[in-house]
Amino acid sequence: MSTAAMPEFPAGFRWGVSTSAYQIEGGADTDGRGTSIWDTFAHTPGRIADGSTGDVACDHYHRHAEDVALLAGLGVSSYRFSIAWPRVRPTGDGPVDPRGLDFYDRLVDDLLAHDIDPVATLFHWDLPQSLEDAGGWLNRDTAHRFAEYADATAARLGDRVKLWITLNEPFIHMSLGHATGEHAPGRTLLFDAFPVAHHQLLGHGLAVAALRTHTTSPIAIANNYSPVRPAGDSDADRAAVAAYEALHNRLFTDPLFGRGYPDELGFDTSAVRAGDLDVIAAPIDVLGVNYYNPTGVRAAQEGSPLPFELVPLEGYPRTAFDWPVAPDGLHELLGWLHRTYADDLPPIQITESGCAYDDTPDADGRVHDPERIAYLDGHLRAIHAAMADGVDVTGYFVWSLLDNWEWAEGFTKRFGLVHVDFDTQFRTPKSSYAWLRDLIARP
Ligand code: FCB
Repeated sequence: MSTAAMPEFPAGFRWGVSTSAYQIEGGADTDGRGTSIWDTFAHTPGRIADGSTGDVACDHYHRHAEDVALLAGLGVSSYRFSIAWPRVRPTGDGPVDPRGLDFYDRLVDDLLAHDIDPVATLFHWDLPQSLEDAGGWLNRDTAHRFAEYADATAARLGDRVKLWITLNEPFIHMSLGHATGEHAPGRTLLFDAFPVAHHQLLGHGLAVAALRTHTTSPIAIANNYSPVRPAGDSDADRAAVAAYEALHNRLFTDPLFGRGYPDELGFDTSAVRAGDLDVIAAPIDVLGVNYYNPTGVRAAQEGSPLPFELVPLEGYPRTAFDWPVAPDGLHELLGWLHRTYADDLPPIQITESGCAYDDTPDADGRVHDPERIAYLDGHLRAIHAAMADGVDVTGYFVWSLLDNWEWAEGFTKRFGLVHVDFDTQFRTPKSSYAWLRDLIARP
């Protein structure tokens, strides 16, 4: 970790942390909440590493006041949470349940009372199961149901949420959920998953229009990005890099900025109807960037169904998830977005950045996580360097406030600034929490 003082961030820079509904809330049957695809998936034997579910998770649904106090103690100016679609509209297309919205209404008011801007994500992967039963994101109607849910939610919260995020990481939801099947709903369609990309983006565009009727707050999408590093320098490796880059970094970004879908991938785009690309290109005010690590790629083996092969990147420290720690990748990525989308690119907020380590309390009950401090330090310096190059970055959200339920990894990956004992729900701020608090509080 650098010993030089952390450079200053401009006044008004947003400091935040991110969470998502299914990963922290619990309260799975409370107040009329419907079933989501993640309830179904987690309850299917063999899907989750430790056999756990998000039924209780961090019990945030009942402990939100304690969690808002932790946010206030950290001194963040923004808190990014997600709204559970199956709480607001339990069947996805039936009546709105006001009890679900009541919960977020209280949370938003509590945040504002602590001078914390509520940042709400509308879809962080917990699709109502009844919509999945009708085809999920393979079905174009789901985009319209999403816009209706966005409309109902913004009618209630639009006067107080300070930044709206339509979708979280549609690429990961398409690829792990529908192409390779490690995430809910567990489909294994490989490149036939393209309609899931298109219908999510269509839902995003329709939701932007719905949100604008209720709010003047800025609107964003949170995309996952990964700079791609070739394993070799053959023409075949370079072609594989271009294909993977188009899939991971451009598929969900080119259409936002009026450039249509990248054509390198040879997708069957018959799901795209006249006018859809205009809906998707509705102006947004902020681009949310979720960054964890770069990806190593080489040419595919003969007969592979994919035009690339993913390979581990050597020479980096690694997190407990075995992800390489590469702050230089964030600097590179921000430069790439700035150059590639130029004048079309709105200001960027880093809507997720973080790392998992096997943090355990010491004999005195304290949790020391120097690797996480080094991780955050390195990534903040990378952002600062990109800003010095001219990239407009206006905020940074750490993933995550709490250790939580990490999808297919269950409770085995701890990403929090705050340790959670999942047997007792006892919360212990880690040393990274104190480090970030002191950084935010700098005069
Ligand atoms: C991101 C997800 C988030 C969390 C982190 C570790 O891809 O958006 O929910 O799982 O990874």
